[in-house]
Amino acid sequence: MEENQAMSMPRIGESAPEFKAVTTQGNINFPADFKGSWVILFSHPADFTPVCTSEFMTFASMESKFAEVNCKLVGLSVDGLYSHIAWLRTIKEKISYKGMKDVEVKFPLIEDITMEVAKKYGMIQPGESNTKAVRAVFFIDPKGIIRTIIYYPLSLGRNFDELYRVVVALQAADSFGVAMPADWRPGDDVIVPTAGSCGVAKERMDGKEEGVTCHDWFFCTKKIAEDKVWAAVKKK
Ligand code: BEZ
Repeated sequence: MEENQAMSMPRIGESAPEFKAVTTQGNINFPADFKGSWVILFSHPADFTPVCTSEFMTFASMESKFAEVNCKLVGLSVDGLYSHIAWLRTIKEKISYKGMKDVEVKFPLIEDITMEVAKKYGMIQPGESNTKAVRAVFFIDPKGIIRTIIYYPLSLGRNFDELYRVVVALQAADSFGVAMPADWRPGDDVIVPTAGSCGVAKERMDGKEEGVTCHDWFFCTKKIAEDKVWAAVKKK
């Protein structure tokens, strides 16, 4: 079997693979230690590199915003613990970037010199690099289920507003039993599930289902007020 075929890739809807690891915040047992919270497990290619530094400063600056929606952050690279500690100390003590300075990374950063975790999560993608993890992002729900996966290459820093939007949108979709259209943000219309019977579909098309607008029989939307979305998401 080719190396690529032998590599496991966790998928959306599956339980997050388990592992124990050493981090900058002590040992963790993943995902058990995070049950009851949303968690973003993300990888970066290497410590002491510029794109990763800009990403860590951005993510650390947004940590409290993620905490408000019950979402914890866990980073990983195939560097060792002392490299992680030295890099995070350099960021805090020396780097000033885009108005961010004195940034302390308080979330755990996993050391994975054996690449055991990175390989388990499909973060090593040999077409991109054999020796560094790509910029993978796993969104894991409070039951430990993978709900969204996004990969970026080494040369492209992530959009952290989008990562936040994903967490909020997944939680809102769960809370209200709806789906989110392209570019959805809190306060925008949401998509109501397709009607289960012809009768309900006809009522909707005829404008008889209150608050529901149909663009066609398979595409109906309704409003959920922004404050209702935040109330549902922030209380979780
Ligand atoms: C960076 O974070 O700047 C970077 C890391 C690995 C390869 C290319 C860029």
